[in-house]
Amino acid sequence: VAGSLSKSELLGFKAIPTSTADTVTVPEGYKAEVLVSWGDPIFANAPTFSQQNDASAQAQQFGDNNDGMTFFPLANDRALLAVNNEYINDEFLFTHGGKNISADDARKSQAAHGVSLVELKKVDGRWTVNPQGRLNRRITAYTEMAMTGPAAGHSLLKTAADPSGKKILGTFNNCANGETPWGTYLTCEENFNGYFASEKTVTLGKTYQRYGISDTDWGYDWYKHDERFDVAKHPNEPHRFGWVVEIDPMDPNSTPKKRSALGRFKHENAALTVNDDGHVVVYMGDDERGEHLYKFVSAGKYDPSKGSANRDLLENGTLYVAKFTGSDDELKGQGEWLELTFGKNGLTPENGFPDQASVLIFAREAATQVGATTMDRPEWVAVHADNKHVFCTLTNNKYRGVKDSQPLNAANPRTKNPYGHIIRWAPTQGDHTQPTFEWDIFVMAGHPEKQSGLMAGTDNINKDNMFNSPDGIGFDRAGRLWIQTDGDYSNEGDFAGMGNNQMLCADTQTGEIRRFLTGPTSCEITGLTFTPDSRTMFVGVQHPGAHFPAGGDAIPRSSVIMITKDDGGVIGT
Ligand code: FEO
Ligand code: CA
Ligand code: CA
Ligand code: CA
Repeated sequence: VAGSLSKSELLGFKAIPTSTADTVTVPEGYKAEVLVSWGDPIFANAPTFSQQNDASAQAQQFGDNNDGMTFFPLANDRALLAVNNEYINDEFLFTHGGKNISADDARKSQAAHGVSLVELKKVDGRWTVNPQGRLNRRITAYTEMAMTGPAAGHSLLKTAADPSGKKILGTFNNCANGETPWGTYLTCEENFNGYFASEKTVTLGKTYQRYGISDTDWGYDWYKHDERFDVAKHPNEPHRFGWVVEIDPMDPNSTPKKRSALGRFKHENAALTVNDDGHVVVYMGDDERGEHLYKFVSAGKYDPSKGSANRDLLENGTLYVAKFTGSDDELKGQGEWLELTFGKNGLTPENGFPDQASVLIFAREAATQVGATTMDRPEWVAVHADNKHVFCTLTNNKYRGVKDSQPLNAANPRTKNPYGHIIRWAPTQGDHTQPTFEWDIFVMAGHPEKQSGLMAGTDNINKDNMFNSPDGIGFDRAGRLWIQTDGDYSNEGDFAGMGNNQMLCADTQTGEIRRFLTGPTSCEITGLTFTPDSRTMFVGVQHPGAHFPAGGDAIPRSSVIMITKDDGGVIGT
């Protein structure tokens, strides 16, 4: 499965050991520096960072918990970095730790979410934030957006504040990302359910339960100061989140567009590829135990000569969900994409789907209706541009083989899957629009020293490259697969010898995997992007838990790290 394990010509760096230190470590000959941290000013007159900053300060500063990101080059020495700000940590965002939050606190929390668009300029050969940049922008949980596609204007999206069902305020829990060949940025709404609550005790129906929406939130308390988050008062507001949002980063006054054709679920990233025939294909994971893996195929075709005429290709198309069959002895098999279109595959009024909008708004239930395979938390997807192979991280799943609804299956073959794995598939004839594919498991993370059988991991795991819970992945231009982890960093028991969360690099031809970076205490590593020359890599350190990056007694701050090679070479060589 893992290939020949012959010596890789793609990987040129010396692997590093694990770490439990409160710092970022990279291989010999490489340098890691902080580019920007939560609370750094990104406009000319913005206040400098302080834990005392209020909502209006936060709205002019870099958001919290940076996740997926994309580097958009503007010139040799100018660029725009678009970065998701997934969520906040009460204990660090507020001096009072988040107890009894005020209206300004709630607004500050909303302003720390969303997306930060930050111009960079090269000074003395090194990228730095340019607070004067014309394109600098904060998109928050209250920025006006437009709903587009088949669900726009549907009755399930209409609220007291928006009778049109097309004008939505904000985006939040922006996990990972994507980018399009027409120059836009895609930001993906993940755990949106955690922001809705009610003063009243209410029992919500199964379409809410399937997404984890209830009268109790995850502690954000927005509903106490912003009524639209009270799910008893405004039961349609949660339907307006859980989407992929398209942003034009080159126009700071543009209205972000929610793309309903891509379905509503807990989106991880949006791995977009242009098929040989011009159809735009987007692969998407739904990060929850036992949820599914999706594919969108645009109705129209991308034509590079048509410029802005391509801009609405994500407005209409067909959504599919994956079904995997095969053998868990061989860790490979066949797959099928099941269409999520009203009137097909049992998606009918009798089964609770009166129209295409309801299929998209309740995509999870539509996926169950058509018989999709339950997966071990599908996180990021990455497409190899040349050989058309597609990879998806299945980060872990404590319910696998435990809950009746999530029995073992060939593609998810380990009880409780504590370490996670990366599945790979090849679309039939290299055509991403085909309804079938062949799959195998590229790597099963594990512990070859403490475990046996499937729990030991595949042949490409050894005592020197052990890790758990692969999450962020992405290919660089040369086809190296970068793997980031969000897992158990206890360094004990079943995870002894794995250290802090980390980033590894794989040669998907040979199967070899080497550790490239280790993160600070209790962080996860998430988000990656490169300059076009591949000589600077940007990597995210999210929710560090001790004192990174300032050290001493400082509170920790999520940060974007910039990695360069001392000899100016390509990262990974
Ligand atoms: Fe935001 Fe599934 O990670
Ligand atoms: Ca993730
Ligand atoms: Ca994760
Ligand atoms: Ca995270």
